[in-house]
Amino acid sequence: MPNRFSSLSHDSPTLATIDLAALAHNLTVARQSIPASCEILAVVKADAYGHGAVAVSKRLAQLGVSRFGVATIQEGITLREAGIQGPILVMGALFPDQLPDLLAAGLTPVVHDPAIADRLASLARSRPEPYPVHIKVDTGMGRLGLAPDQVLSLLQSPSFKGPLKADALMTHLADADGPDPDYTRIQIARFQSVVGQVEAAGLSVPFFHAANSAAILRHPSAHFNMVRPGLMLYGYQSLPADTAASSNLADHKPALLTPILTLSTRVVQIRNLGQGESISYNRTYRTSRPSRIAILPIGYADGYSRLLSNRGQVLIKGSRVGIVGRVCMDMTMVDVTCLPTAAVGDEVVLIGRQGEAQISAAEVAAWTDTIPYEVLCAIGPRVPRVYR
Ligand SMILES: Cc1ncc(COP(=O)(O)O)c(C=O)c1O
Repeated sequence: MPNRFSSLSHDSPTLATIDLAALAHNLTVARQSIPASCEILAVVKADAYGHGAVAVSKRLAQLGVSRFGVATIQEGITLREAGIQGPILVMGALFPDQLPDLLAAGLTPVVHDPAIADRLASLARSRPEPYPVHIKVDTGMGRLGLAPDQVLSLLQSPSFKGPLKADALMTHLADADGPDPDYTRIQIARFQSVVGQVEAAGLSVPFFHAANSAAILRHPSAHFNMVRPGLMLYGYQSLPADTAASSNLADHKPALLTPILTLSTRVVQIRNLGQGESISYNRTYRTSRPSRIAILPIGYADGYSRLLSNRGQVLIKGSRVGIVGRVCMDMTMVDVTCLPTAAVGDEVVLIGRQGEAQISAAEVAAWTDTIPYEVLCAIGPRVPRVYR
C-alpha cells in the first residue's frame, strides 16, 4: 500500500539540500587533477558521506563515472537495487560468511587476507568467468591488507588460476593530508615496489590505485591508473588551511572545490528572556542582558553535535549568530538579540551559504574538534535530503 504520508517529508523544516551541479563541478576538478587515462572510482560509502549514495551515484554515473566504492555489502546492494550497473567495490571489512551475498549482488570484493581469497575462489569456481577482485596491500596504514611480501604468492596461488582474477592492486595512504609528505612518499614507494614485482613476474593486473582526495591533489605519483576520490567530490579538501599555507609540498595545488551540501532549518519560536535567565539543560548559559532567543528544530539526533553547545554559530538573515546553552536532542537555541527583524519561519543555515556569509562543514568540524568527514556523515536519517 502506498504510504500516504510519505510526501509530507519535504515539509520538514530541517533539510539537507544537495547541489548536483556543484557535484559535477567537483568531479571536473578531480578529472583535471589526474591524467586523462586515469580512471575514477567514486567513493560513495557511508551514504555518500551523508549526501545520499543513490542520488549522488546516479548523477556521477550520468557524468561518466562507472566505478563506485562502498564500505559494506549492504551499501553495495542498495546501489545495485537503485540500478547502478558498473563495478561496485566493497572496501570495508569482509567476513567469509558474507561472501555469498557479495557474489549474488555482483559486487567486487577487496581481498585483504588470503582466507578471503580462498573462500571467494571456492564460491566462484563454478562460474564460467573468473570473478574480479581487488587486492589490498598494507603499505603503512596499519589497517586491513596483505603485507607487501604476501601479494605475489597470493597472485600465484591456485585461486588466481581460474576462479578469481585480480582486477586491481590497491593501497591506502595514511597521511596524504598531513603537512609532511615523507610518509606518503614511503608508502607510494612500497606500493610501486609491489607493482614492480607483479609486472616482473609477468602477471597481468589491469589497475593500480592508491590516491584518496588529498593524494589526488598533492601527490601525482600516487595516481597510478585509477584514483579514489571521496571528500573532494563533496566539495572539501582535508588539508587544513594552515597546512595549505605552510605546505612544503612542491606539488600542492589549491583546488577550487564547492561544498555541495546545505544544512538548513527554520526558526520555530522566538522567546524574549530577561537578564539572568538560563537556557537549556544544566543551565550552562545565562543571559547577561534582556535577550531574544530563537529556537531551532534541530538537535544532536539530527547529527548536529552536542559539542556545538555554547560554541557553534548559524546564519540567519545573512548574519552569524551564536548557539547558547546545550544543543538538545531535537532543539538548539541561538541568540538573535542583535537581529531585531529575526522572526518565526526565517531560514537558518547551519552548514552552507546564506547571502554573503558561509559556514563550512570544516568550520563546524573545527568547533567540535573533528574533521569535515565526520560532520557530514553524522547528518542523520531524520533529515530529508533534497536535490537540485
Ligand atoms: C579505501 C579508501 N579509499 C578512498 C577513500 C576516499 O578518501 P577521501 O574521502 O579522503 O577522498 C576512503 C575514505 O576514507 C577509503 O577508505
